Amino acid sequence: MIADIDLGQGLRLRTLTAHDVDLVVEATGTEMARALWGPHPGPYTPRDARAALNDWDPAAGCQASHGILKHDRLLGALGLMIDGPHSAELAYWVRPESRRQGLALRGVNALTRWTHDELGLDRIWLEINPANTPSLRLADRVGYRYEQRLPHHCRAWTTPDPDHDTWHDCMIWVHANLTTSPAT
Ligand SMILES: CC(C)(COP(=O)(O)OP(=O)(O)OC[C@H]1O[C@@H](n2cnc3c(N)ncnc32)[C@H](O)[C@@H]1OP(=O)(O)O)[C@@H](O)C(=O)NCCC(=O)NCCS
Repeated sequence: MIADIDLGQGLRLRTLTAHDVDLVVEATGTEMARALWGPHPGPYTPRDARAALNDWDPAAGCQASHGILKHDRLLGALGLMIDGPHSAELAYWVRPESRRQGLALRGVNALTRWTHDELGLDRIWLEINPANTPSLRLADRVGYRYEQRLPHHCRAWTTPDPDHDTWHDCMIWVHANLTTSPAT
């Protein structure tokens, strides 16, 4: 399902498609670490962006990426990965120069509500590196609740080979039902 949500203050959250290659290239231009769409670190070339958006094609299956846009400029993106009849994982990224402006808070809040209301999913969950303080604080601010710590669950993606990669613990945070709406 395609999302198109007015976030206020000229901001819009809308599902990204294969037509958004130029937006992704521009938005990742100053990123040195990983962005939303996979292990790829640093700026995306048009080819990288095309491959990423194909992997996240909302028409193809269970995962879609949703851009936070202002005046047709991509400021950040949220990923939604449906992993069961009642459940989806949410992931987020904001371009480096646009952080600490409340963009993730607005976007995650809106997409969480939309996922409960429009997709009818009861459980939305986050997977967070215990060292990622901004992400942990964001999860708490937006009304998710800590559920459990999974030992050596996530890859650092220092190498394509999983057997030679570094693995770290992951914290699972959950937004579980409609009665506990995300913070406004
Ligand atoms: C995590 C991330 C998405 C936050 O985006 P953002 O737009 O900067 O976040 P917001 O401005 O909406 O901040 C909302 C709340 O999150 C917390 N937060 C965000 N950045 C923080 C930081 N650098 N240090 C501490 N807390 C932080 C704060 O509680 C903040 O509320 P406050 O500003 O009222 O204190 C962003 O830092 C990012 O893209 N990081 C790289 C990708 C990543 O780590 N994704 C998560 C993978 S699990």
